[in-house]
Amino acid sequence: MSKLVIKGGTCVTAEARLRQDVLVENGVIVALDQDIQIVDAEIIDANGLFVLPGGVDVHVHLPWPKGQYISLDDINQGTKAAAFGGVTTIIDFVIPDEQEPLAAALERKLNEAQNNAWVDYSFHLNIRGAVDKKIAEIPEMVTLGFPSFKVFMAYEGFRIEDVELLNIMQAIQTAGGMLDVHAENGLIADRITAQLIEKGRTAPTYYAMARPEICETEAIQRVLAYAQVYGTRTHIHHVSTAAGAELIGRSRQKGMPVTGETCPHYLLLNADSHGGDQQMAAFMICAPSIKGSENQEALWHSLADDSLSILATDHCPYSKQQKLENLGNFSTIPGGIGGVELRLPLIFSEGVRKGRLSFERFVNLWATAPAKTFGLYPRKGQIAIGSDADLVLFDSAQNWTIRAESLHMNTDCLPYEGWQIIGKPVMTILRGKVLVGQNQLVCDKPDGQLIRRFLGAQ
Ligand code: URP
Ligand code: ZN
Ligand code: ZN
Repeated sequence: MSKLVIKGGTCVTAEARLRQDVLVENGVIVALDQDIQIVDAEIIDANGLFVLPGGVDVHVHLPWPKGQYISLDDINQGTKAAAFGGVTTIIDFVIPDEQEPLAAALERKLNEAQNNAWVDYSFHLNIRGAVDKKIAEIPEMVTLGFPSFKVFMAYEGFRIEDVELLNIMQAIQTAGGMLDVHAENGLIADRITAQLIEKGRTAPTYYAMARPEICETEAIQRVLAYAQVYGTRTHIHHVSTAAGAELIGRSRQKGMPVTGETCPHYLLLNADSHGGDQQMAAFMICAPSIKGSENQEALWHSLADDSLSILATDHCPYSKQQKLENLGNFSTIPGGIGGVELRLPLIFSEGVRKGRLSFERFVNLWATAPAKTFGLYPRKGQIAIGSDADLVLFDSAQNWTIRAESLHMNTDCLPYEGWQIIGKPVMTILRGKVLVGQNQLVCDKPDGQLIRRFLGAQ
């Protein structure tokens, strides 16, 4: 039996901060106490460090295939970067071809991930194309442990019709699953994009104008209205507007089974962060677009007051070359930003240290609430007896500078390049084994496991 004690650290959970040791046996937490003494255990000294639950990132693309581009991190590279960022479970997406059954696309993804992921993983299943056939597969997918289904309200080739959305919601509700939504009105975005291009307003700094706030707020309002028809559990990905967060918050207050997430780039950047620099504007292109600065503080507030309950990354990295090769036409620049490795240090540094979020609230947003919402809890997302020993040791005093070249995400165009950060994950433990320590991968081969997810009662 393998035994490990993490000694001397301060454990931070969604509820409290406590100086306690953690005893792990065979990958599972078996005791939490002030001073655990076990003779035959490996000891990790966590004095002066915080011990957090390993991060759960429910929105990563490993990779994301759209049009002529495919984002650059595959499951191996992306989960390696996740491990360096203190993330121990990710949920990626199965994106079937239009006519391909969900089961076949899932099989492909499972084969890619097997023996190739550094952290534990699961998948959301995208529904598009032959929607009726895919709807018929929903009950089986839920039974197999894949209960979340993603739809896009934007993007040519991905966008579904409203009647399809309602049919999907009905089927998901009957099967006991949940819907995840990319909520943007794609018709508005495509029309404004076409108008801008026609007028010669093609530079990347025009991108924000092509996806104004109404794109998102209209789509969120619509999906929340539809969600009431069947009472479908609904999760809104990557909320970028104060008004969108407020709509979700109000639905939650009314007791609707709705959750919302935002991502570091919507909190830390605004539509003017590029300062007129076209290259930086290209690096910031993602959908929904990054909005005006008045949204930033409001989004922090919605994380603090539980209008939004999840912090994810929408990890989707590209290279500088890919971002810049069509600099003359924003509509052909691939959308997405790398982030899976930076969620903890960025949000600790800018959110917890600056008093926008308590440390406990951060832990809830970072691990506990995502695990609960997506059917990973109580195995994942907490420091508690019986849970997997997925832990991250965090040095809250370490001062460092973000340099893409010293990180592990396959990107050289981070909008945070050169930012001075305080706080760094220094060790990541997956099911009781040290995965990353002293800035190195410690495991010699990927040992991430597929986690089948089951949602509790609504
Ligand atoms: O621009 C983005 N967000 N790219 C990734 C795909 C998506 O919409 O989440
Ligand atoms: Zn999206
Ligand atoms: Zn995404």
